[in-house]
Amino acid sequence: MADTLKITLLPGDGIGQEVMAGTRTVIETAAGMYGLSLELEEALIGGCAIDETGHPLPPETLELCKASDGILLGAVGGLKWDGLAPELRPERGALLPLRKDLELFGNLRPARLYDALASASSLRGEIVKGLDLLVVRELTGGIYFGDPQGVTENRDGRVGVNTMVYTAPEIERIARLGFELSRKRRKKLTSVDKFNVLAVSRLWREVVEGIAPEYPDVELEHMLVDNCAMQLIRQPRQFDVIVTGNLFGDILSDEAAMLTGSIGMLPSASLGDPAKGGPAGRGPLGLFEPVHGTAPEIAGRDMANPIAMVLSAAMMLEYGLGEAGAARAIEAAVAKVLDSGARTGDIVSEGEDVIGTKAMSARIAEALEAG
Ligand code: IPM
Ligand code: MG
Repeated sequence: MADTLKITLLPGDGIGQEVMAGTRTVIETAAGMYGLSLELEEALIGGCAIDETGHPLPPETLELCKASDGILLGAVGGLKWDGLAPELRPERGALLPLRKDLELFGNLRPARLYDALASASSLRGEIVKGLDLLVVRELTGGIYFGDPQGVTENRDGRVGVNTMVYTAPEIERIARLGFELSRKRRKKLTSVDKFNVLAVSRLWREVVEGIAPEYPDVELEHMLVDNCAMQLIRQPRQFDVIVTGNLFGDILSDEAAMLTGSIGMLPSASLGDPAKGGPAGRGPLGLFEPVHGTAPEIAGRDMANPIAMVLSAAMMLEYGLGEAGAARAIEAAVAKVLDSGARTGDIVSEGEDVIGTKAMSARIAEALEAG
């Protein structure tokens, strides 16, 4: 019997609950097929954690996460908690500290267009057909965490400050992740910065250039962030891997998401330092979550698309647990179900029928089992 892998499930708020419930079945099916012994344990995060414990990231949840091999997160936040102080709001009070405490510096956001969904993209089919790119976003530094930050007062009145700061080692470690991931793909890396204006970007470019000779097989290019935003809608297939800082990555990954038809399709992985490894030593401790939020307007109505969550579980199997075969099988099951015409409301085109979250998850699990 293989070692038992501990997985923490954090459904969170809104549609997080529903998409997690459906994904559980898919994970259990995959575990059965690939002989994985998984121990799945649920914990509170986000608004529901505030309601129960007063804090969006209770210490028990953080401890459980730290002691697990992989973490699967649904989504956090909602109108009900929007009025709280910023540090208590689910997004800032739970997500950012979780990323920072677990040192999950490398955020992988693939944008891949499934053939069956070409007509759901906001761009014409011939521009996006076959799109398959990966945004690698630095997640624990930059303007999200730099000091000084805050709103203060000076002679001119109130002043708001945030600081974009990167150390050379921080840049190097995310750039190396970008190079390594390019190697496993089409070997093209685009490093995105604002070199023409920002000092922090000048250092960024220098550090990336400095390690490039160690990856002679990868073609490296630099691109300014404004140009990248434009190129993503002009000719998105020119990209393979994009590596960039926290804020630029936040923005560009939403833009890339839209090219694939729906943000409801996009998974993500947030990885730590592989040298530190997960407790079972199989791979980096990682957090895997859909790119979408809690979608309060459709929450609790069996309308959400579970695919981003299911694909996040696939990324967990691949990057967190080293089970690439199981990940490919889940992706193939998703493609098969989409090819068969199954659609949730967010990816439906004229003339197609809509199915709910539960039915979509069940069909993916069946397709997986059928192989
Ligand atoms: C994301 C989100 C978060 C971020 C918010 C909710 C804090 O937009 O994961 O992209 O900005 O990182
Ligand atoms: Mg974002």
